[in-house]
Amino acid sequence: MSTDAAGDSLRETPAWGRLQAHFAEVRKRTLRELFDGDPERGERLVADGAGLFLDFSKNRITDETMMLLGELARERGVEERREAMFRGEHINVSEDRAVLHVALRMPRERSLIVDGVDVVREVHETLDRMSAFAERVRDGEWRGHTGKAIRNVVNIGIGGSDLGPVMAYEALRHYSRREMAFRFVSNIDGTDFVEATRDLDPEETLFVISSKTFTTLETMTNARSAREWSLAGLGGEAKAVAKHFVAVSTNAEGVAEFGIDTDNMFGFWDWVGGRYSMDSAIGLSTMLAIGPAQFEQMLAGFHAMDEHFRETPSGGNLPMIMGLLSVWYADFFGAETCGIFPYDQYLHRFPAYLQQLTMESNGKHVTLSGEHVDYDTGQIYWGEPGTNGQHSFYQLIHQGTRLIPADFIGFAHSLNELGDHHDKLMSNVFAQGEALAFGKTPEQVREEGTPEAVVPHRVMEGNRPSNTILAERLDPQTLGSLVALYEHSVFTQGAVWGIDSFDQWGVELGKELAKAIIPELEAGEEPKLHHDSSTNALIRRYRNVRRGV
Ligand code: F6P
Repeated sequence: MSTDAAGDSLRETPAWGRLQAHFAEVRKRTLRELFDGDPERGERLVADGAGLFLDFSKNRITDETMMLLGELARERGVEERREAMFRGEHINVSEDRAVLHVALRMPRERSLIVDGVDVVREVHETLDRMSAFAERVRDGEWRGHTGKAIRNVVNIGIGGSDLGPVMAYEALRHYSRREMAFRFVSNIDGTDFVEATRDLDPEETLFVISSKTFTTLETMTNARSAREWSLAGLGGEAKAVAKHFVAVSTNAEGVAEFGIDTDNMFGFWDWVGGRYSMDSAIGLSTMLAIGPAQFEQMLAGFHAMDEHFRETPSGGNLPMIMGLLSVWYADFFGAETCGIFPYDQYLHRFPAYLQQLTMESNGKHVTLSGEHVDYDTGQIYWGEPGTNGQHSFYQLIHQGTRLIPADFIGFAHSLNELGDHHDKLMSNVFAQGEALAFGKTPEQVREEGTPEAVVPHRVMEGNRPSNTILAERLDPQTLGSLVALYEHSVFTQGAVWGIDSFDQWGVELGKELAKAIIPELEAGEEPKLHHDSSTNALIRRYRNVRRGV
């Protein structure tokens, strides 16, 4: 029997039992019926906050479902856990750390004392340093070794030190300094670095080495290649690279050892998880692209959603609603995945960003106290921007056998109004939600004159759930709110499941094994291999092909 830190089993909470009985009823009901019997549904099952509007009426729920999910949240202590996070308690139990990304966006006049330190003051000191640096680079005042202004910024990082920055840069490209080029290198595959730098002039290129630990294999390997590339292009003098490298890290020693002056380092703190760090100094490349003022707007959006999450009762609380619906689908309907479909080309990296946020956070098989869970945890998140996805995988969502709850994200205004493109784009957001929910009955198909043999193929059962998130336009503030919405939805899910959403031990084993295999691949003499027979044979085969044996 699984237990959370408080010693209660999720399955034994009264709300869980009531939800199970309730589910037996709800699963038989269709969205068609639910809408037909309740003309106000589409206007009632909605919520808004921090500039985002959420329509959750096309979910397989009733008012009672939401009431019971709210009870489940209360019984699982979601609100107490939320308060513990905001107070800076060590809710990341397996790493014994506070989880304080919310402090990264608290306004300057606030204060939050954690272990005797005002973390908000420290956050703003770093933001001020970042702003001063970003202004110097953007104004052309910061010069490279040969006196040229910086025109290219290459962020080197991986995971949270890449996905947030690249997603935010792409999302806010409209607001970016267009005369400058921004590139992102993450993969240890040399192709990533080579392709990102092939048309850049080292004299005009600044590398931002972003790594919380400053030990990550991929990032350190790419950083060393970047240093060689710079040196080669700047005449080979070691001191030449000083003006071309800055670091973002919590590890000052590692930064100094690498050879970057710690005056050119922007720090953050162990209470910022990698996947929750795009609004910390890890966002330096974002700030270089959009400027400090727009970055501040983004932080204001994050903060507005933090306040909404903290203060709004569960019935109208966007992250809680979305988080509880994820629990509903994952644990009662057995939905394994959740589709994220932003109808905005600028958000094309948003699903990739959310994959780390959601799956590294809630892909856990034990509770806070280390017991194996006896229910499903984190769903698989995936997606592509609309309308492209419609012409690719939507078929399976509409007519396949699996239930895939979807989030549609759209904006009232386009940042690139072009003829009637935007109305056509948004008509697809509304149409997809409608088609998924209500489908097409056999009668409707027959009425179209479809031959009887083809009728079953053209029937769409509907009853496929979705959320629709609408905002006015994709600006820095809205992006901040949107990211914080998902951060807190993930938090809500993790709190209900009683898991540690802030560690990531599962990624360690693969890293360790790779480190052990590197010398085996590089050895001149045939190494003695002690892996399983499959891994041994693969390593031998690779070595043979490389040596032309
Ligand atoms: O491999 C997982 C991970 O630890 C992520 O959690 C993190 O975002 C990423 O690696 C990068 O880590 P770092 O910023 O320390 O280089």
